[in-house]
Amino acid sequence: MADQSSRDGMGYHTSAILQWTAAQHAPHDAGLVRAFEAPSREEMPAIQIGPNEGRTLELLLRLAGARKVVEIGTLAGYSAIWMARALPPGGHLWTFEREAHHAAVARANFEAAGVAERVTILVGDALERLAEIEPEGPFCAVFVDADKGNYDRYGRWAAEHVRSGGLLLGDNAFFFGRLLEEGDAEAAAMRRFHEESRAAFDTVCLPTPDGLLLGVHR
Ligand SMILES: C[S@@+](CC[C@H](N)C(=O)[O-])C[C@H]1O[C@@H](n2cnc3c(N)ncnc32)[C@H](O)[C@@H]1O
Repeated sequence: MADQSSRDGMGYHTSAILQWTAAQHAPHDAGLVRAFEAPSREEMPAIQIGPNEGRTLELLLRLAGARKVVEIGTLAGYSAIWMARALPPGGHLWTFEREAHHAAVARANFEAAGVAERVTILVGDALERLAEIEPEGPFCAVFVDADKGNYDRYGRWAAEHVRSGGLLLGDNAFFFGRLLEEGDAEAAAMRRFHEESRAAFDTVCLPTPDGLLLGVHR
């Protein structure tokens, strides 16, 4: 059930409720703790997804039977570890990261989490390097979590390279509350990401803290 307030967007979650439910449904082992806490130890921003979103990615990939997954935006590898653990034997994750230091931290975190063999990090601008993995496609899922001004381009790439029944996932789909701002080029790119992804995917925007666009390729 819902009520008018929750339909209008009010959430009933509090910080304590989020922490309690994450502890129930998205518990961390040592590998996830290490990756989640890396931004507090390293020279990098603490902009990783939360545990509830990580578990959501993992379960969605399992539901889709994903074997070949692409991530745009690695940071310390936290979301990548969740996704890598969703893969069956022989599955693979390709993750793109522009900053060499972030990639080095993520690589060590993948080793510690026991997923290094099923993850390839490509260092550099994703838009420049995506073509390199195209021979591995079609892919089962693409998770976009990098530069917001290029989400429309990443969505177009996903529409071309995700198999039928595969997933498009886009974090920050509410663009930090600025999605509808006029005169903001990044907000406009995020709106195009929403609008254009509907053409190739059956879509919904899940109301996670900053919105998670989910699409199933037709
Ligand atoms: C929000 S963080 C990713 C967080 C990660 N997905 C997680 O939840 O653990 C975004 C990352 O994307 C990287 N990035 C930004 N623009 C990029 C680009 N054009 N190509 C590759 N990586 C990019 C940033 O350096 C940053 O590490």
